[in-house]
Amino acid sequence: MDRIVVTGNGPLSGQIPIAGAKNACLTLMPATLLSDEPLTLTNAPRLSDIRTMTTLLQSLGAEVSALNGGQVLAMSSHGLNNHTADYDIVRKMRASILVLGPMLAREGRAIVSLPGGCAIGARPVDLHLKAFEAMGADLDLRDGYVHAEAKGGLKGAVIDFPVVSVGATENALMAATLAKGTTVLKNAAREPEIVDLARCLRKMGAQIEGEGTSTITIEGVDRLHGATHPVVTDRIELGTYMLAPAIAGGEVELLGGRLDLVAAFAEKLEAAGVSVTETDKGLKVARKTDRVRAVDVVTEPFPGFPTDLQAQMMALLCFAEGTSVLEERIFENRFMHAPELMRMGARIEVHGGTATVKGVEKLKGAPVMATDLRASVSLILAGLAAQGETVVSRVYHLDRGYERVEEKLGNVGAKIQRVQGDG
Ligand code: UD1
Repeated sequence: MDRIVVTGNGPLSGQIPIAGAKNACLTLMPATLLSDEPLTLTNAPRLSDIRTMTTLLQSLGAEVSALNGGQVLAMSSHGLNNHTADYDIVRKMRASILVLGPMLAREGRAIVSLPGGCAIGARPVDLHLKAFEAMGADLDLRDGYVHAEAKGGLKGAVIDFPVVSVGATENALMAATLAKGTTVLKNAAREPEIVDLARCLRKMGAQIEGEGTSTITIEGVDRLHGATHPVVTDRIELGTYMLAPAIAGGEVELLGGRLDLVAAFAEKLEAAGVSVTETDKGLKVARKTDRVRAVDVVTEPFPGFPTDLQAQMMALLCFAEGTSVLEERIFENRFMHAPELMRMGARIEVHGGTATVKGVEKLKGAPVMATDLRASVSLILAGLAAQGETVVSRVYHLDRGYERVEEKLGNVGAKIQRVQGDG
């Protein structure tokens, strides 16, 4: 397995292009299952999660071709011939559950493996399933699979989510486009990826109102047609690379960056003493002071501070003057990066969903282990300003969500390389 070696190398300068959003692409791809006409996505990111979704769709009989080096995904579901999403693929990626809604809506049945080992436990999909039941589907959980059937098709319903869920909102939204009658999603997620999905579905002929607010209304139609859609900018990749100059110093322009995608996060950066300005090509981030100031962070559904940037923000706050408190409200057990940062000399205490970070002047490079996607990139970010060499192993997590990370950071002056081999 590859490792990434980062050596603290002073301030950064230059430009980093931001890719299309992984999480948007992972819900736009299953939308192809809703129509027998082609759906083409442009600005797709080149990531292993996208390849996993490609394999899953192909296993159902869809055609998916990656063109233009993977930035264009040409898909067609006219020849669907399988209704079962197999455990071997689904276990690799939780987002696989997003094929359930579209398949059920168009075909009237679907069998999908529950993602992970105990999906109705710590990482449940109960909200997805309850939405389909409300729309008239019969569900049966057997042998680790959800067997779903909607004889005569799905019916519109009022669905009031008890918890804001990005995935459940996306799944229900896709299913409702082909349901009979009106569906109202209340307490819906407002993430930009949902707005992007609704825009694409509307191009395919769906009737949707209210995306980006907490009430989305969908008027079911008989069929959807083909479309071409550009994937929205990845706000998590954007936020991650905004932190690079904040941590290492210097000034970097994030090409394609948009402030509205990262407003709550940018506010915290500015409170820490980092400047964020809009340019005609994106966003420019600069840290001119010696050290940043401590800030407190609470993760929340959009438009709040994203949980997917919490680990990276913690890397910055390790170097801050003063004590910061980070509260994780979306996922339990999402501080796996803290012990690894502590191996580099960070002072962090974790109690339940709260991490207290006492800023230090210096971190020292160390061998560290990436435990998940965002944790792994937080260790790379910390390594940009640590003394000496930080060796991050198990970087396969990284490749799920960041394309060419060593090239993007190397181009702005970071000393970073991928070493092939064990680790
Ligand atoms: C998506 C993102 C992920 C991000 C998360 C929160 C994708 C592919 N992934 O994940 O990167 O971290 O949003 O912004 O888009 N929950 C339930 N029952 C359910 C579903 C969720 O209780 O049926 C809970 C979860 O355990 C969690 C919360 O709801 O505590 C939010 O999860 P959710 O928004 O559904 O996350 P995902 O869609 O899986």
